[in-house]
Amino acid sequence: ELEMPMEGGGEQGRWEEERLKTASLSFGAKKEREKGLKAEREKYQLILEEDEMINFVSSAVIMKGTQDEKQEQAALSQAEVQKQSIQEVRRSLPVFPYREDLLLAIQQHQILVIEGETGSGKTTQIPQFLMESGYNDGGMKIGCTQPRRVAAMSVAARVAQEVGVKLGNEVGYSIRFEDCTSERTVLKYMTDGMLLREFLTEPDLASYSVVIIDEAHERTLHTDILFGLIKDIARFRPDLKVLVASATLDTERFSCFFDDAPVFRIPGRRFPVDIFYTKAPEADYLEACVVSVLQIHVTQPPGDCLVFLTGQEEIETCCELLQERCRRLGSKISELLVLPIYANLPSDMQAKIFSPTPPGSRKVVVATNIAETSLTIDGIIYVIDPGFCKQKSYNARTGMESLIVTPCSRASANQRAGRAGRVAAGKCFRLYTAWAFKHEMEESTVPEIQRTNLGNVVLLLKIWQSWYSPGINDHLGIHYSYCSVTLLIFPLSLPFPLSLNYIEYKCSEEVLTIAAMLSVNNSIFYRPKDKVVHADNARQNFVVPGGDHMVLLNVYTQWLESGYSTQWCYENFIQFRSMKRARDVREQLEGLMDRIEVEVCSSGGDIVPIRKAVTAGYFYHTARLSKGGYKTVKHQQTVYVHPNSSLFEEQPRWLIYHELVFTTKEFMRQVIEIDSSWLLEVAPHYYKNKELEDSSSKKMPRKQGKAKEELG
Ligand code: CDP
Ligand code: MG
Repeated sequence: ELEMPMEGGGEQGRWEEERLKTASLSFGAKKEREKGLKAEREKYQLILEEDEMINFVSSAVIMKGTQDEKQEQAALSQAEVQKQSIQEVRRSLPVFPYREDLLLAIQQHQILVIEGETGSGKTTQIPQFLMESGYNDGGMKIGCTQPRRVAAMSVAARVAQEVGVKLGNEVGYSIRFEDCTSERTVLKYMTDGMLLREFLTEPDLASYSVVIIDEAHERTLHTDILFGLIKDIARFRPDLKVLVASATLDTERFSCFFDDAPVFRIPGRRFPVDIFYTKAPEADYLEACVVSVLQIHVTQPPGDCLVFLTGQEEIETCCELLQERCRRLGSKISELLVLPIYANLPSDMQAKIFSPTPPGSRKVVVATNIAETSLTIDGIIYVIDPGFCKQKSYNARTGMESLIVTPCSRASANQRAGRAGRVAAGKCFRLYTAWAFKHEMEESTVPEIQRTNLGNVVLLLKIWQSWYSPGINDHLGIHYSYCSVTLLIFPLSLPFPLSLNYIEYKCSEEVLTIAAMLSVNNSIFYRPKDKVVHADNARQNFVVPGGDHMVLLNVYTQWLESGYSTQWCYENFIQFRSMKRARDVREQLEGLMDRIEVEVCSSGGDIVPIRKAVTAGYFYHTARLSKGGYKTVKHQQTVYVHPNSSLFEEQPRWLIYHELVFTTKEFMRQVIEIDSSWLLEVAPHYYKNKELEDSSSKKMPRKQGKAKEELG
């Protein structure tokens, strides 16, 4: 089974090399692939995970705990050695020889586009060049944005180490729910979303001398919005330097957008990568990955391997399969180190992927898109690319957001292949046909701005605009000057600050908990495959009247009463890590309440004010019971209560939902029961009395046992 004539082969076996261009194989693939995907899809759409969240621990941080003097000295000399090798690494990066040219170009142009291969040193080195040549003089800051939280944190840690300062002092980072900066911070890495927020407190970014929009090719929503805003302020701030840094993709477009700004190209150091395609489409790409890794391991010379999958669950399955098969093969094969990497992976596990591979063994890193451009793992020679990624899509008419596993773009596939050629000539195995690559894949990924909910961004822009013309109202009836205070400060999406604004309901204590719990959405309840019944019973025990928000509140309250116990979580099938995070978020929000001098108070067990407050934030997410399901009030769209909901059986007449997700049906996830009269109370500008009249006064008959097959 492990036969694999990869070298030159192509005529026999599974593989076809790029230059062979065999056109004889048809691509009836799409259907088949979709069939294979369907089951996966159902799984994944349930996990609308944000590709972020991580506590990356750099060695700079680990070292701070040494107390004993001897230890300290040892640590110091170790740091000295490390520093030396760090300087060597710095000098070896492709960007290093261009230091002076680059600084000159920055001096001569206000806006500069910088293009360079991933790993050439754009993110870690250019900000240091700027610091070294005094761009931070006079207390000015250098800001560098990253689309991903993980990247912002790990890069800041790395640079702090290179500069030789403690993370959070001169070099820091700022991401949602975590600000690791101080008054001393001159170089600030942050997510693009955080810089966008800074526009609200400082509409001209006056404290920055340089803004670097990094990983521009990712074209995230926030990065795209930043382009527009920064182009605007650059006009009246001639002293501001703007650098747009990108991998080698589409840089002409950035140049064009910024009125033909010059492009500075850092020539990459890239070894050739041989690309292999499968001769026929793979029905099960996960299995194909596993087989390919083993084939590489057995037949190929030393070198580490990188596999691209779409998400945590898939990655875990792949790692399990690999480990199991290695166990079965036993001493017949040399050691294979299997390491996963995805955003929610605990930090100590993350750090492992960067440690060198012991001689005689091979490392295989199984990663999400995160390893495509954001993280660079040294030593990779082989890349396995099934050609899929998880992508957000949004239907503006229905307000439905979904996360779908889709074929990735050619640009993305080429980035992935490029990861094999950083240290030596490499090989990339694509688990799809050459025909599919040429004819079925999109040229490049559709920018996020074209496939996501723009609500929060529009509001941010409106607030920004209101700095120039204060007092505008909008159709949602939000008075910006009032609401902006909360929005500015609270790192939550729009509705929660609105909920909190309804302080007259006197239940901010509970709303904070609910907001914190929803921020770790969908990862609270633990449901291991072998204990499904126990887990479901445990979950059922948390059900209280009112709906899912109240259940989350109940879980948190009980956990608090247990003294935030790990054991308690374990016994109740609750994920401790998620709870801990909810607690962190909650504490931060409480601190912010204190900062705006709003007293945190409790409703004392009365659930009506809590549900009213949620209604105040989410009034436009209302659904009414109707024949065969629910209908959204404004768009008359048919939607269903998710089988996991505490209100699945009860089916109350009026509901507010937290989000709509499409899996097998249009499901409302996290629902709370409301009284329709509240809608007129909290959103009189949005609802008319007539819309909320019940067509019949009788209670609708309950749906029995419906959609049981959708459970799980
Ligand atoms: O931004 P770009 O992709 O051009 O490169 P970079 O992120 O500045 O990375 C330059 C080098 O720094 C990489 O090749 C890594 O070896 C190293 N690095 C690291 O060791 N740890 C990090 N967290 C980030 C970068
Ligand atoms: Mg970078």
